[in-house]
Amino acid sequence: MADALREHLVAYFEEHHKLLEAEALQLLLSDRQPLSLSRELLARSGDGSSPFVTREMVEATIARRRAGVPRAEAAVPGLVANANRRAAAEPFELLTEGFSGPPVASQPIAAYGALFQSRYRALARMLRGRPDLPNLRPVRELRASDGVASVIGMVRAVRETPQRHHLILTVDDETGSLETLVPKDSPAARTPFLSDEVVGLKLTFSKEPGKIPRVAQVERPDIPSTRPTGRATAARRAIFLSDLHVGSRSFLSESWAHLVEFLRGRGPLAELAASIDYVVIAGDLVDGIGVYPRQERDLAIPDVVEQYAELGRRLAELPDRLVIVAIPGNHDAVSPAEPQPGLPANLTFLLPPNVRTLANPSTFALSGVVVEAYHGRSFDDLIPAIPGASYSRPTDVMKRMLEMRHLAPIYGDRTPLAPLPRDGLVIDPAPDILVTGHAHTYGVDRHRGVLLLNASTWQAETEYQRMRNITPVPARTAVVDLATLALVSLDFSGGAPTVLGPAP
Ligand SMILES: [Fe+2]
Ligand SMILES: [Fe+2]
Repeated sequence: MADALREHLVAYFEEHHKLLEAEALQLLLSDRQPLSLSRELLARSGDGSSPFVTREMVEATIARRRAGVPRAEAAVPGLVANANRRAAAEPFELLTEGFSGPPVASQPIAAYGALFQSRYRALARMLRGRPDLPNLRPVRELRASDGVASVIGMVRAVRETPQRHHLILTVDDETGSLETLVPKDSPAARTPFLSDEVVGLKLTFSKEPGKIPRVAQVERPDIPSTRPTGRATAARRAIFLSDLHVGSRSFLSESWAHLVEFLRGRGPLAELAASIDYVVIAGDLVDGIGVYPRQERDLAIPDVVEQYAELGRRLAELPDRLVIVAIPGNHDAVSPAEPQPGLPANLTFLLPPNVRTLANPSTFALSGVVVEAYHGRSFDDLIPAIPGASYSRPTDVMKRMLEMRHLAPIYGDRTPLAPLPRDGLVIDPAPDILVTGHAHTYGVDRHRGVLLLNASTWQAETEYQRMRNITPVPARTAVVDLATLALVSLDFSGGAPTVLGPAP
């Protein structure tokens, strides 16, 4: 693990254009929470500061951490409450929560400005210095006489030229706005541009005056192809669930009972169950109330607090040695604007002490393997925006998320975005596993070494879904080996689990 972790840390700092001095690296490696310490260190050293990370800088960050409760934990009362009475845990390390304090309400327009500036800066940092973006300039300093130059911009608009169907792409940076031409059928036009994503563009300028620059190449932040993935040494496993919808009439209590039996080590898969230390639940923990028109007809438990009490009873059925990490979704009783905060203390106290509730999204490490959990509301915007995308293949959309290094770029559509000063929907650090729900289907894929999971649901098809033509794939789950990221898919829809794909 030490070697994997060493490479992981070096790569993480490299992506942020920082070089770790040997002694600084040594000190980080000796810490109990090396990943979150690294993150705090980077958060405190701005863009303009020295590219070197020294031992003294690590020491100063450790001293600050000792002086008080870490910021990330202070922001989530439920987490502190749970942390205080948490089970003797396998190593769980919280890295970052998307939610960073209540939105600034007094000046909403300025607050959105700050949010987009934060997004631009975080993603531009990942693109800067690439050999495929030569002669990188702010928009204001572009000169046609340069012949070739590059910019990093946020996509503002895309339109087609009426006759030839080339794309006119407008991007903004902090100095101005630029119109560019993306020729139809060129490699640059192959991946559709999405509103408010951040891209690097290599441009060629024509000698004819008045012509807009042509996009010769597009660079997206993406996952570095050379990145080592953090892997645990011990062959321990995590199981991924989503969209329980407790309180719904369609909650699959029989399948759930079989899941409980499996995790308790009854049946032929006892050995697999015994190797599981962690449960991750990617939101829509309960069905909620008033989430869609006439939902009350679909509810078995019409009171939302009672729904969480029932969730607490369901989770208490699982062995209490498990560390359960849960984030909210759009059906849960927190603000729907993303990033969503974790559940409030008056609800987390209804859950057993081995449950940690975090914000949506959140990034954490399980035995050193970095997991990003996001509920997936943005599928509702990304699927219509990406030609060919569908709810039945959410992992295709998740690949786009990794390419953009952003979970929900589109502003002003179905996913409400909270105007927080830090864009908590930027994917940073790069995870080893990205898990989502919301689509109520089951999907597994990989992208540049990152395991992508869409973690099914424990709710049968509802009338509302039938109406919207969404066919769920319920009661499936992925059991992931944290040492190898190999995975076993289990299907509980018929009762006792069936192993899908390769046997454990
Ligand atoms: Fe759901
Ligand atoms: Fe959802």
